Order: sequence, then C-alpha cells, then structure tokens
Amino acid sequence: MSEFTCNQEIVTVARRSLTQDVWDYLTGGAEAEMTMRRNRHSIDSYAFIPRVLRDMSSIDPSGTVLGQKVRIPVLLAPIGSLQAIYAGGGASSAKAASRFGTMPIISSITEPSLEDIAGAAEGPKVFQLYVRGDRDWIKAILGRAKSAGYTSLALTVDSAYYGIRERQLMNRWLPPSVQAQTGRHLQSAITWELMDYIRDLWQGSFMLKGVGSVADALMAVERGVDTLYISNHGGRQLDHCLGALDTLAEIAPVVKGRAELIVDGGFLRGTDVIKATALGASSVAIGRLQGWALAAGGEDGLVRCLELIEREIINALGLLGVNNFSQLTPDYIRKTEVVGPTHELSTFYHLKERLT
Ligand SMILES: Cc1cc2nc3c(=O)[nH]c(=O)nc-3n(C[C@H](O)[C@H](O)[C@H](O)COP(=O)(O)O)c2cc1C
Repeated sequence: MSEFTCNQEIVTVARRSLTQDVWDYLTGGAEAEMTMRRNRHSIDSYAFIPRVLRDMSSIDPSGTVLGQKVRIPVLLAPIGSLQAIYAGGGASSAKAASRFGTMPIISSITEPSLEDIAGAAEGPKVFQLYVRGDRDWIKAILGRAKSAGYTSLALTVDSAYYGIRERQLMNRWLPPSVQAQTGRHLQSAITWELMDYIRDLWQGSFMLKGVGSVADALMAVERGVDTLYISNHGGRQLDHCLGALDTLAEIAPVVKGRAELIVDGGFLRGTDVIKATALGASSVAIGRLQGWALAAGGEDGLVRCLELIEREIINALGLLGVNNFSQLTPDYIRKTEVVGPTHELSTFYHLKERLT
C-alpha cells in the first residue's frame, strides 16, 4: 500500500472497494448534510498568512495530546460497526495507530470486544462510551475498560437520538451496531449529573465528546472537565449546525486554556490540522478518512494515510514559517471566502473525474 501517493488516491480506491450501502454509511451525514458540508466549508474558509526568511531546515510535526506525545496531532476518531468497513474492525485501527505513533479512540459499539482491541496493540488508547444501560451497566463496562488498559475515557453526548441519515434510509440498510442495539433510550436521558457520575467512576483522563456550543463548553469547564472534544459527529446527528472549525474558533477564546481542546469534522489534510492547531486545538481526529484508508488498504493503508498527512504537515509548516506546533498562533490564519463548490469531499478535487 506504500504506493498510495496522496489521500485523494486512497479515497478513490475506497470508493471502488466498498459496496454502495457501506460507502453511504461511512460517507453520509444527516438529512440535508448541511452540517457535514459546513465542516469542510469552515476549514476551507481559513487562509494562511505565511512568514518568510526563517530557518526552516528542521520541522517537528509532533504534538502532545492528553499528556502523551504523538507523532502528529491526529487521533483516530471512534467509529461504530467498523467491522462492516474493514474486517479487522477496531483492532485494525488500534494496530495502525500503534505502528504509526498516535492514539486511537475506540468506539464502544464496534467489534471485536473492547478487550480484544486493547490487546491487539501497544500504546495509549481512549475508550469511547455510549450509554446503553443503567448505572450498574455503566459500572461494569467502565470496569472492563479500566482492566483492559484504556488510558482515557471519551463520553459521547451529541447522540440523544440517532441522526436521520437519508442515504441509509433509502438503502434500507442499517449498520450492525444499530440493528443489535438495546438500551438506546438511556442515551437519550443523559444529563450533567450522569456525566459527573461517569467521570467520578472513571477517575482518570476524561473527555466530553460532542461539545457544540460556548455555553456547554463553559459549563463543562466549570464542572472540572479537563478535555473538550468539539464535534458535531461529522454532521451525522443534528443537521444545520456550524462547521466544527467555526465552533472551535468560538470556544477556544472563551475557554482560554482552562481545558484541552480536541476537534473533529471534515479534517482530511495536513493544512486542515494546522488550521485547527492555530485556533487552539491540541489535536484533530479523523473519522471518515480513517474508514476510507482501512477500506482501501487495511492497516497498511491507514498507516500510509497517516504518513501522507505527516508529510503534508511538514511541508505546510515549512512553507508557513513555523518549525513546530507550539509556535502556531491565530496570526497565521485569517477567515476569507471559499473558492469553488463545497461538498464533503471538495478538497479531493480529482475524485469525481477519476470515478466517472
Ligand atoms: C461510520 C461512522 C461511525 C461513527 N461511529 C461513532 C461512534 O461509535 N461513536 C462516536 O462517538 N462517534 C462516532 N462517529 C463520529 C466520529 O467519531 C467523528 O466525530 C466524525 O466522524 C468526525 O468527522 P469526519 O468523519 O468528517 O472526520 C462515527 C462516524 C462515522 C463516519
């Protein structure tokens, strides 16, 4: 798989490898897919302000996330039913993350079991929780995640209801995790009190996934949450939200460093990662791109995808006049107009013609 030349090529191969049903599950969003398109739009609508005549002979693309050094500040976002996209499921993401040198966030609704995924690869891993039971159920699953060695917990809170994903509806196709699920109504009833309960039970590194407003970011910080994972679930839940990068731009100046910020939604390139970091995120996470890379080339494909993003980061930092992420500030970017059409894959401008 090392012959993939750019991530655009990886997505082209993924499109050919996946059935229409699975492609739509992975690639689609909710309703009019406006949130999903705004994710890309918000990223595309920032321009760089480069600096010159600085010594750029050495560039360090590494980052620090949740106190851990990562080779690049790009985590693997949790993906449910990953086994439908690639047979190895969450274990393949964990192995690829470990080989490359970043952290995977493992969905509580993917296969194989959380223990098998934890055992598949070395290195720090985050366990993502969907609440699917009562307090005893929560206690049991967190106990299992702790014993299996997960280093952090991500509680997803943007999913009181399952988004209305019209591609899936029209295909009459549901992912295995949704077909099998019980206890979903308990997810609809999560409150700040239950969040406190879960965090106290876990007693370790904890993040709230699905923060989408300044008001909730402030409430979380006041309750002592140390990591906010800003996300609209890749536009798969509530439609007509802001693009995730615009949400980060609103939240970061208000949080003022009182919590670590992670963001996802539409991140596909090294330049995208740099924009999020300039706005105050410690890292981004990749959802769909992770799935496409696994579909195109399995674990090797995902490692290659991360290598390509690393190459793009080094190139763009060097051209921007920045040796490492700690030097980045909002002065290096500015909001501007977007050139050309924006859809979820508009950054991969070759894709359409290669597929037709
Ligand atoms: C196929 C698929 C399944 C997902 N499953 C989960 C999940 O189980 N738990 C979760 O918190 N988020 C889930 N998400 C949301 C991702 O973690 C992430 O927020 C989103 O994909 C980021 O946007 P991007 O795909 O544009 O990178 C899923 C996303 C996709 C594409």
